[in-house]
Amino acid sequence: MKITFIGHAAVLIEGSKNIVIDPFIEGNPAAKIKVEDLPKIDYIIVTHGHGDHIGNTVDIAKRDKSVVISNFEISFYLQKKGVENVHPMHIGGRSDLEEIKIKLTPALHGSGIIEGDQIIYGGNPAGVIIELDHKKIYHAGDTGLTKDMELLEYEDIDVAFLPIGGNYTMDIEDAFIATKMISPKIVVPIHYNTWPVIAADPEVFCRKVCEIKKAECKILKPGDSLEI
Ligand code: NI
Ligand code: MN
Repeated sequence: MKITFIGHAAVLIEGSKNIVIDPFIEGNPAAKIKVEDLPKIDYIIVTHGHGDHIGNTVDIAKRDKSVVISNFEISFYLQKKGVENVHPMHIGGRSDLEEIKIKLTPALHGSGIIEGDQIIYGGNPAGVIIELDHKKIYHAGDTGLTKDMELLEYEDIDVAFLPIGGNYTMDIEDAFIATKMISPKIVVPIHYNTWPVIAADPEVFCRKVCEIKKAECKILKPGDSLEI
């Protein structure tokens, strides 16, 4: 399985199915990949309603007839925008789809969808656990540190994507505590340095993680991939 960090919080997983999480690509100052460069996407996962996470979901879903997995409210919103295949879920639910299993996890954040001068209710923000080809990937979405993350230790996570940029999400200190709670085999920092307000040094995060020998920390630059 090949996992590519597109930039910001966008992650591409290529295995027996192709999955993209939070595909904020156009207008993403960190993205090195264009929408046209993406392979055919089977599933799109949207963790919450903010623009830097919904991103190009509608374009990709229309192009590839992808199934979009999100909470009930965002699924409804995306359907109204012309997405044909949605799979609404909610936090705590696990779903067995073709070749993949998905579970939404709690996230401490917002999920409103900005449209013009309106904020549309976007349900609750989430993280996601994806099972594909006998590997488990956790993407925290945007979240503050929460003790609920202790429960993720039972999931036996292979790769965890955790925000470290602070201001809207966990910072390095909090993501380090989250890593200790989750105990993934590999942790990858995300959601930093896209804008000055979320500046963070991933090397500092990885040095801390290295010291406790609980997880391998990998810094992926936008466009970099990981084989697992
Ligand atoms: Ni957000
Ligand atoms: Mn965000």
